[in-house]
Amino acid sequence: MCAGQGHDLLGVLAAHPRRADVRAHLVELDPRNAAEARAAAAGLGLGDRVAVVTGDAALVRNYADAVPAALVLLCGVLGNVADEGMEETVDRVSRLCAPGGTLVWTRNRKAPDRVPRVCDWLEARGFTRDSLSPPDVRQAVAAHRRTGPAAPLPLPHTRCSRSSGTTCWRSGRGDERRTGPVDRGVARREGRAAAHRRGGRRDPRADRP
Ligand SMILES: C[S@@+](CC[C@H](N)C(=O)[O-])C[C@H]1O[C@@H](n2cnc3c(N)ncnc32)[C@H](O)[C@@H]1O
Repeated sequence: MCAGQGHDLLGVLAAHPRRADVRAHLVELDPRNAAEARAAAAGLGLGDRVAVVTGDAALVRNYADAVPAALVLLCGVLGNVADEGMEETVDRVSRLCAPGGTLVWTRNRKAPDRVPRVCDWLEARGFTRDSLSPPDVRQAVAAHRRTGPAAPLPLPHTRCSRSSGTTCWRSGRGDERRTGPVDRGVARREGRAAAHRRGGRRDPRADRP
């Protein structure tokens, strides 16, 4: 999710002996990044094995039948999620991971260091830590395996829970399910789009930093 140009995955797949066994599903909001990822996958001869969806990673429908997955990559995301939305994001993303599957995630170690909290949240949800980079590595990388039972996929969100922070869960239409991360930029863009749809009136909260 939030796959950027797919470097996390495609760099490994390029020369992997089991590359032909992989079916990957990338979700990326920025169409330019998504196009780069698509082109890179095609260039590696993996165009038919790597689907790239241009869309919001917070919507479960953008994962179609790719979840629950054996491997979920949450890289370069948690550093963009405000504190008050982080546990909910971790909870929802963790549900995309199949029993026995692995969630690989990253988070910077800037103070206050949130890496221990993320570990605690995952470990309270049936995950076991397989690896974590040493504390002096500025961008922590961790792998957690779901050793507990499956968790149901995220439920549809029915109300907006904007609080004092900037990360929020938006009320989608009834058919939309949210997984998680709505980063500050996305939240602002969605707010502006909603204001535009309402006839140009702008909700000042939409631009709150
Ligand atoms: C810091 S980059 C990380 C990219 C990649 N995961 C990596 O580690 O190289 C964050 C990416 O998330 C994308 N993004 C931000 N909000 C998103 C959203 N709601 N849904 C999907 N992608 C999003 C951005 O366009 C950007 O490409």
